[in-house]
Amino acid sequence: SLQNIIGKLTSAIQQNVMGIKVVKAFAREDFEISKFEEIGRERFRLQLKIAKLGAFYGPLMDFAAATGTTFVLWYGGMQVLNGTLTLGELVAFNTYLTILVGPVSLIGWTISMLQNAIAAADRINEILLTRQETHLRDGKKELNHTRGHVEFKHVSLAYKSGRNALMDISFEALPGEMVAIMGPTGSGKSSIVNLISRFYDATEGKVLIDETDIRDYRAASLRRHIGLVAQETFLFNATIRENIAFAHPGATLAEVQNAAKIANIHNYIMSLPENYETVVGERGVNLSGGQKQRISIARALLKDPAILILDDSTSALDTETELMIHKELKSVAKARTVFIIAHRISTVKHADRIVVLDGGRIVETGRHDDLANAGGLYSQIYHIQLSGQDAEGAAPVMEGRTHGR
Ligand SMILES: Nc1ncnc2c1ncn2[C@@H]1O[C@H](COP(=O)(O)OP(=O)(O)O)[C@@H](O)[C@H]1O
Ligand SMILES: [Mg+2]
Repeated sequence: SLQNIIGKLTSAIQQNVMGIKVVKAFAREDFEISKFEEIGRERFRLQLKIAKLGAFYGPLMDFAAATGTTFVLWYGGMQVLNGTLTLGELVAFNTYLTILVGPVSLIGWTISMLQNAIAAADRINEILLTRQETHLRDGKKELNHTRGHVEFKHVSLAYKSGRNALMDISFEALPGEMVAIMGPTGSGKSSIVNLISRFYDATEGKVLIDETDIRDYRAASLRRHIGLVAQETFLFNATIRENIAFAHPGATLAEVQNAAKIANIHNYIMSLPENYETVVGERGVNLSGGQKQRISIARALLKDPAILILDDSTSALDTETELMIHKELKSVAKARTVFIIAHRISTVKHADRIVVLDGGRIVETGRHDDLANAGGLYSQIYHIQLSGQDAEGAAPVMEGRTHGR
C-alpha cells in the first residue's frame, strides 16, 4: 500500500543519511541510489494509480449527485404542480438532502483514513511485537542493596536466531573484584554482559547475584545497581551534562564533573565553547569515538553502581589514555564489582580474575601470572602483544618465554 511505500522511502532516507560514511567507505553509492530510485518509481506507480482512480470516480460521484438533484427537482416539481406536495415541502426536502451530502461523503473519507491508520498501525505493531519477542518475565523481588556477588552456573545462551552463543559458562565474581573477560570477536563476551543486565535470559543454567537467581529480581531494580558502558556508545541529542547525568538528572555539576574527570574527558569538555552545556549527539557537536566512550564511562560512573561493566569501552582510545583511565578507575573500582572486556593485556593484567572465552566456551580462567605462560589462548595473545611492543623496548618474546613465572 501507499503507506508501506512511504515508510520504505523514509527509512531508506534515514538509513542512508545516518550511514552515509559507511555507504561512502564501501563505495556503495550507486547501489543505494538505484535502490532508492526503485522505491521512488514504485511510489510513483502507486500514486498514479490512485490519481487515475480519483479521476474516474470523482466526476462519477459528482455526476450521480447532480442527476439526483435533477430528479428530485423534476419529480417534486411535477407533484407540486399536481398539488400533492406543497412548494415548502419540496424546498425543505431538497435542503435536507443537501445537508445529508456532507456526512455521507464524510463516511467515505473516514473509511480511507481508517485504511491509512490500519497500515500505519501495522508498522507500529511490527515494532511492538519485536519487543515482545525478547520480553522477559519480570521478577518480584526488589534488589535494594547488593554486595555485588555475581555467579554464573552452567549457563548456556542461544539467541533466537542460530546456534549457542554461550555454552556451560561457570565463573564467579566476588564482591569488589575486577573480572576481565577476553576472547576473540564473536566468542561471547558481550553475551555474558547481556545476561548480567538481563537483556536476555539464560537458555540453560542461571546467573546469581547475591546467591539469588537474577530472574527473581524486578529487572528495573536489578539494573539500578548496574553501570553498563555498552560496546556501541550512544549519546542523546542533549547537552553533555544531561548525557552524563542521564541516570540522575538531579546530579550537581560538581558530581558530573567528578565523573568526567575520572573518565578523563573533563579537560576536553572544558575546551568546548559551552563546556558542559554543549549539545552533542546527532544534531550537536561531533565527537570522536573515544570521546563518546569516555562520556559513556562518566555516565556509568555517575550512577555509582555496585556492578560496573565496561564492554570494550576503551577500544577507541590510544593506549596512553586508556592506561590513564584505568589508573583512575582503580580507586573507583575498589568498592564495586567490575567486569571489564578488553583486548589489551595491559588493561586486563591487574584483574583479580581473567576469563578467557573462545567460541562461547571458557577455555581458561586465572590471574595474569597464571595464564601468561600457560601455553593457552591468553599466553598466545600476551606474546603477540609483547612482540608488538618490541620496538618500544619491551622484553623480547623469547626472553619472556624462557623466564617463565
Ligand atoms: N542479539 C543477538 N542475536 C543473535 N545472535 C547474536 C546476538 N548477539 C550476539 N549474537 C551472536 O552470538 C555470538 C557471540 O556474540 P558476542 O557476545 O557479541 O561476542 P563478542 O562480544 O565476544 O564479540 C556471535 O556469534 C554473535 O553473532
Ligand atoms: Mg562484544
